[in-house]
Amino acid sequence: MARTHDTGSEWNLRNPRFCADDLNSLLRVSPWAGHRDFAYDLAAYLKPRRIVELGTHYGCSFFTFLQASKDLDIRSEIIAIDTWKGEDHSGTYGEEVLELVELTLRTYFKSQNYKILRKTFDEALPDIEDCSVGILHIDGFHSYDAVKHDYVTWIDKVDDDGIVLFHDIDPTCGYGSSQYWLELKTRHAHFEFPDHSYGLGILFPKNQGLYERLKLLLSEAVFGFYRYKAKYRISKIQIYDMEKMLHERWSVLQRMEEMIKDRDSLIIDQSKMLEERWSAMQSMEALSIESQKLLKAPTVTEAIGLLASVIRASFQHHIERILGRKW
Ligand SMILES: C[S@@+](CC[C@H](N)C(=O)[O-])C[C@H]1O[C@@H](n2cnc3c(N)ncnc32)[C@H](O)[C@@H]1O
Repeated sequence: MARTHDTGSEWNLRNPRFCADDLNSLLRVSPWAGHRDFAYDLAAYLKPRRIVELGTHYGCSFFTFLQASKDLDIRSEIIAIDTWKGEDHSGTYGEEVLELVELTLRTYFKSQNYKILRKTFDEALPDIEDCSVGILHIDGFHSYDAVKHDYVTWIDKVDDDGIVLFHDIDPTCGYGSSQYWLELKTRHAHFEFPDHSYGLGILFPKNQGLYERLKLLLSEAVFGFYRYKAKYRISKIQIYDMEKMLHERWSVLQRMEEMIKDRDSLIIDQSKMLEERWSAMQSMEALSIESQKLLKAPTVTEAIGLLASVIRASFQHHIERILGRKW
């Protein structure tokens, strides 16, 4: 019987740090992110000779397996297959996605044994020998027909003690993948995380030996731990993001307050200027009245007196401005 695992006798609950997040912080909130702790511990326990992933996109699951391989010196060959073009469910995307995946691989995982195959899953079939895969992860297009096709065409690649992981099995996720999972799980031994991060199914399609061993190690409490941890991590990220948003809003409010202060002092300056203009206009009006009187003065003495008051009125405004007070 072909078997490609080197399982340990204990299941360890580890607390990994996923360094790929440093280059792509979106991995932390990827739909797959809630399964990283379990998948990491699973790879650590199974130490499979080969892991194959159908559907990689930004690489949340791929980098999880690579992280386990790197941290724990597991010699698995980890193969990611994707067209890196996307489809209707994940959305179509450009070259920048694969470029970021490749940069992450060069930056953090250059000593790991990985391969990326930019092909359709069908095109990649001849690249992988039968019975050579310890973990097959199916996470491509999520229609019922597509998931069934991927499972049926790839199951011969899985070794006799191998397992198949299925993402998006949560019945509320709205994809046909959850329907197909319902069918499979009636036929094979399995575990599942049905209700967080779109659900993850863990199928033992060829024999129950590994399942029975794991059942002894993975109590309900252990599954509860992963569920709790996934939800805790997501809440922590949400709280962090809210704190960041509040902080940003607070500094926008402070900038607005500064702007309001600046406007207030501009308004005060402008109203001072208007007051000055108004009093200048009044002085001009008084000057014009005095000038009229001067023209009509019957005697020279009266004219001189009027002239003096005209001169005084014409300079009064400027002197007031200079001295800043009435005189
Ligand atoms: C849901 S995403 C994979 C998510 C990834 N496992 C993660 O952890 O984030 C699905 C990916 O599968 C790819 N895909 C879907 N059907 C495919 C096919 N038949 N052949 C190759 N790639 C496919 C898409 O290009 C897309 O990037």
